[in-house]
Formats: sequence, C-alpha cells, structure tokens
Amino acid sequence: MQCGKKSTKTESSETEILGTVSQMNLQQEANAKAALAYNAASDHFDHPVSSFWHRFGRRTVERISLRPGERVLDVCSGSGGSALPAAEMVGPDGRVIAADLAERLIDLARAKAEAGSLENIEFRVSDMLDLGYPDNSFDAVVCVFGIFFVPDMAEAVRELWRMVKPGGRLAITTWGPNLFEPANGAFWDAVHSERPDLHRGFNPWDRISEPNGLREMFAEANVCTVDIFAEAGTHPLNSPDD
Ligand SMILES: C[S@@+](CC[C@H](N)C(=O)[O-])C[C@H]1O[C@@H](n2cnc3c(N)ncnc32)[C@H](O)[C@@H]1O
Repeated sequence: MQCGKKSTKTESSETEILGTVSQMNLQQEANAKAALAYNAASDHFDHPVSSFWHRFGRRTVERISLRPGERVLDVCSGSGGSALPAAEMVGPDGRVIAADLAERLIDLARAKAEAGSLENIEFRVSDMLDLGYPDNSFDAVVCVFGIFFVPDMAEAVRELWRMVKPGGRLAITTWGPNLFEPANGAFWDAVHSERPDLHRGFNPWDRISEPNGLREMFAEANVCTVDIFAEAGTHPLNSPDD
C-alpha cells in the first residue's frame, strides 16, 4: 500500500479472517473493561485533583488550531476535556461529535455543555471503531488518552484517519515517560510491599510513551506526515487525599 493512501477493505484469506475474529474478541474485551473502569471512575473524574484531563484536552485542541465552522469528531471523550473546548473554538457554525464507551462520563460532559449553553455538540455512547461515519467526514478528529486502550492501535488510527477530510488533522494525545513521578513510583512501591500480587504489570500506554512507538504506530496505519510534540508539566498534590 502506498504511504499516505487511506486503506480500503480487500479480500481476506482464511488465516486473516481467523486473525480478525480473535482481534474482534480482544477488542470487545478491551471495550467492556474500559466501560466498566471509566463508569466506575465517574464519581471522581472531575475532582479538582484530576484537572489534568481538561488541561491536556484543551492543549490538544489548541495545537490543531480549530477554526470557526469546522466539524470535529472527538473520541474517548470522557467528561469532555477536549470536546468542550473544541465546541467553543468551532463556534455556533461548527459541530463537535463526542463519543465514549462510558455513559456516565458522557453524562458529565453533556451536563457541562448544557451549563455552558454549548448547542453545537452532540454526544454518543459508542465504540470509536464503530461510529459508522463515511470517509472524509471531519475537518479534525481528536483522541486524548484513549488510543492505547485499543489492542490494535494501528487499526484504530487507520479508522480515525479514514474519517479525516483531505487536508484535515488527526490529533492523538498519549502519556509520556515518567508519568506522575515521583508519586506513581511511591504508590506502586507501597502496593508491592503490601500486596505483591496487585503490583502493576503492563500499562497499555507504555507501547507509545516514546516517540519511536508513536512513529511506528502511525507508519503502520499509513499516516505519513506526523508531528510529535512533548508537553511537559507538573501536577501539584495538595493533600494526602489527593
Ligand atoms: C483516560 S480516559 C480519557 C478521557 C478524556 N479524553 C480525557 O482526557 O479526559 C479514556 C476514555 O476512553 C474511553 N474509551 C476507551 N476505549 C474506547 C473505545 N474503543 N471507544 C470509545 N471510547 C473508548 C474510556 O471509556 C474513557 O472514558
């Protein structure tokens, strides 16, 4: 396949079909886990200590310079960290579709949109891989801290890229190395000393926390023109409860 050409479905051999079926099972399992985890997290998702969701969401849409009137798809929207600022930026003549598997987070986002009188945003409880939009539907597609939940990330990028109009932008934000250190290391050391069986194993974002992993993912998805930016930041913890 030529680099930069968007993919289309072709005939599959039997082995490829079997591979696709097991990939689908993995995907369904990942979706069920994500919906369960993030619905459960909805009680505290918008607590001030988690303000980083909205901070990085806003930074992501600022980076792609959304313009009034543009049509944006925001997937893995959570409680609206990037979808809400995107709706502000595209204004009343633009439109944002915000999609997430976790209904309770979508409810939080919808309430914030209503409180802010944002009428140009539509919410969907849906898998980002199954949204059903035609090719070239959006000026921009945005995915903040979500792509790594998909077992086949390249396939997910291909699907998101398919929906971007020629000349449009796809923005994907992920965690870099040393996330939340030194608090994260101290937390996991404490877990390990009490319950070694619960000690962290694999973090899905570890696959793309370095530029090389990201480049590979985009290359596999056949997206050629890629800019990677590091956004440094600190996040204060003000009390032991934080
Ligand atoms: C870490 S949260 C980030 C939420 C939001 N983007 C933010 O930065 O605040 C990841 C979100 O991705 C959603 N998610 C995971 N896999 C998804 C999928 N296949 N389709 C749609 N949403 C998905 C989860 O339900 C969760 O709300």
